[in-house]
Amino acid sequence: MTSSPDIAERQLAVVVVGHVDHGKSTLVGRLFNDTGMLPEGRAEAIRAMCERRGMPFEWAFLMDAFKAERDQGITIDTSQIWFKTAKRDYVLIDAPGHREFLRNMITGASAADAAILLIDAAQGVRQQSRHHGYLLHLLGVEQVAVIVNKMDMVDCAEKRFAEIRDAYRDYLAALGVRPAAFIPVVARDGDNLVERSARMGWYDGPTVVEALDAFQATRPAADLPLRLPLQDIYKFDERRILVGRIESGRLHVGDRLLFSPSNKTARVASIEAWNARQPPREAGAGESVGITLDEQIFVERGEIASHEDHPPIETTVFRARLFWMAREPLKAGAEATVRINTREFKAAVQAIERVVDTETLEEAAAEAVPRDGVADVIVRARGLVALDEYRMLKRTGRLVISDRGGIAGGGLVRMEGYPDQRRLVTPRSTNLTGVEHRIGRAMRAARNGHAGGVLWLTGLSGSGKSTLAMEVEQRLFQMGYQVYVLDGDNVRGGLSANLGFAPEDRAENVRRVGEVAALFADAGVVTISAFISPYRADRDRARQAARDTSFHEIYIKADLATCERRDPKGLYRKARAGQIADFTGISAPYEEPDKPELVVDTSNASVDESARAIVDYVVKHFALKG
Ligand code: ADX
Repeated sequence: MTSSPDIAERQLAVVVVGHVDHGKSTLVGRLFNDTGMLPEGRAEAIRAMCERRGMPFEWAFLMDAFKAERDQGITIDTSQIWFKTAKRDYVLIDAPGHREFLRNMITGASAADAAILLIDAAQGVRQQSRHHGYLLHLLGVEQVAVIVNKMDMVDCAEKRFAEIRDAYRDYLAALGVRPAAFIPVVARDGDNLVERSARMGWYDGPTVVEALDAFQATRPAADLPLRLPLQDIYKFDERRILVGRIESGRLHVGDRLLFSPSNKTARVASIEAWNARQPPREAGAGESVGITLDEQIFVERGEIASHEDHPPIETTVFRARLFWMAREPLKAGAEATVRINTREFKAAVQAIERVVDTETLEEAAAEAVPRDGVADVIVRARGLVALDEYRMLKRTGRLVISDRGGIAGGGLVRMEGYPDQRRLVTPRSTNLTGVEHRIGRAMRAARNGHAGGVLWLTGLSGSGKSTLAMEVEQRLFQMGYQVYVLDGDNVRGGLSANLGFAPEDRAENVRRVGEVAALFADAGVVTISAFISPYRADRDRARQAARDTSFHEIYIKADLATCERRDPKGLYRKARAGQIADFTGISAPYEEPDKPELVVDTSNASVDESARAIVDYVVKHFALKG
């Protein structure tokens, strides 16, 4: 069950973008002709046909005729044209309307190594040229050659070319894109495509073909970490065959595979082949395969198989840089059907961080993303999803938002500010046997006069967590409670001394504290934890850890401006000055509680009022009745 590797694996894929009227087909037709790809006499035949019909000859006709002809033989995608230079083979991907193009790029139907971007010399840099440039940048196409076409319409003037070049270069620079070349051409006549233009002696840069040959091929997908998203599981008798397309990397019979997010592992027993006399021993990127495993583990469509040393990320929350294509705007809080690789799941659009104007590059806060809008959004799934970051793995780091079967939007997965949760959910201790206590929770509670449990204070730095925790501890102690505060700055001096403030470190910090708090609670203590604990997923795990006693999430609420004004430790000032990285609220995220048991708004209340609210809450929920 193997098929030959993608054609795209062996060639350079170049996407051609530009307005239809800017001469895209002409450019491609003429390139085709001038690189000697056209069968003998074909151009002449079309020329004669045009004469008969009294139409001016257009290179574009030739491409149309050529495509139509090829389509009758093998089915090929009409938006792709193959050609070669002395150096290598190319597939030119035509990007028709921009929405169509986006759809293809987003779904991974076409992945480009480089781009040719076409601008009409007479029209200059228009909104659409900027839009196209932005989209290439968003899609991570880093190599771009800009072709200024129809130079004959502006008398092949160097000045006009320089104007367009400078304006567009500035725009691209603002995006962080450095174009490989700007080339003035007359596509219709072949100037600067393969041959240098006699009319533009002033131009000393590369021709189009030279620019293409100067592009770097991206790393072959087979050399990247293995990703095999499962498309289906077929059952034949007792055997289960796992089917999918290898998006990157390679696998061999005998390899141990890790399936995510189920975290199950098994070895590859065989790679199935329908026709081969010898079943293959290995398979690589671009191949569709069916494999069997040495153990019958239960895995489902949508899981990703990888090797254990380079697994995908596991998370419940991620960022997406999104293009929205549906007519209805995408609103913050909306429920969406998200597809990542072969997995489809329901998720919430937790927040729209910013909407980007692709023309001016201005970013603005917004509650909704309009049609054709580009935005950074935060997506929250109900359970763990396995995914990659687009910057790490282009093929598996994309998402699509579907709506009634169609594509409503799509984009790139990013994880800045959010932790990979894999380590938190992967137990490594084995061969354990739990031991029963002889003293039960009820006995401890009876002696203390109250139950144990966790008061989980969460909020920004400077919101008042530590102050309130210590105040409440003192008051409860005086009332006779067994009470103890676990405070961020204290715990980080010991239990978590080896952790910093990177997302994974915070998640681990909160995991440890969640477990410790659960133990204290089990010991009968009213345990107050005062940690920023910025991620919902971590707080939910802490809640799970304390599920045998009770867990109370208390949101110590104060907005960023208030906390920054208080700045009790001078840290906001340092963070603003760039001296502290990953600072919560400034350069690292804080996810507000979804349904906290108690909200204490400290921006307008005194310490006494706030502490009283918490003490009252404890008396109500912890004291033994009667
Ligand atoms: S948490 O995010 O892992 O929950 P925690 O509550 O333990 O954070 O520690 C926060 C305390 O660390 C803050 O009160 C502050 O004193 C200090 N700190 C140092 N660096 C940072 C940072 N980058 N972001 C937030 N707090 C920081």
